[in-house]
Amino acid sequence: MPSTDAGQILACGSLPAGALLEQLRWRYATKKFDPQRKIPAENCKILEEVLVCSPSSFGLQPWRFVVVTDPSVRERLRDVSWNQAQVVDASHLVVFAIKKDLNAEDVERYVQRIAQVRGVSLDTLSHYKTGLGYLRSSF
Ligand SMILES: Cc1cc2nc3c(=O)[nH]c(=O)nc-3n(C[C@H](O)[C@H](O)[C@H](O)COP(=O)(O)O)c2cc1C
Repeated sequence: MPSTDAGQILACGSLPAGALLEQLRWRYATKKFDPQRKIPAENCKILEEVLVCSPSSFGLQPWRFVVVTDPSVRERLRDVSWNQAQVVDASHLVVFAIKKDLNAEDVERYVQRIAQVRGVSLDTLSHYKTGLGYLRSSF
C-alpha cells in the first residue's frame, strides 16, 4: 500500500493514529504484583476473548489457554517456574499449552466445525482438508 499513510491504517474504529505505538512505548513486563489487587471479571472476560480470537496458521489454533485458579496448583507451578513470585501473586495465571501432535481427528473436527459455522458443505472444503493433512506432518 505505497500511497497509504501508516497513520491512516491505525486510525480505524476507536484506535486513533499513533495510539498503539504510544502504548507500546510505555508498557513494561511487571515483575512484582500486589496479591490483593484483582483484574475485574469483565476485563478478564475480554482478555480471554482476545486469546480465543488469536489467529494461527490455517486457523487450526492448536492450543489451549488454561486459567489456573487453584492456589495450591499455582504454588506447584511456581516450583517449576524458577520460583518466580509472579506465578502466585499475579491477579490471574494463564498457562499457554500447545498441542504438538495434531492428528486426523483434530483435522476432522476442525473441518466439521468450519462447515457448521460458515454454513457450507463438507465437499467445498475437501481440498482445504487435504492441505491440512499435509500440514499435520510438519508439526
Ligand atoms: C518469551 C518471553 C519469556 C519471558 N519470561 C519471563 C519470565 O519467566 N519472568 C519474567 O519476570 N519476565 C519474563 N519475560 C519478560 C522479560 O523479562 C521482559 O520483557 C524483558 O525484561 C524486557 O522488559 P520490558 O518488557 O519491561 O521492556 C519474558 C518475556 C518473553 C518475551
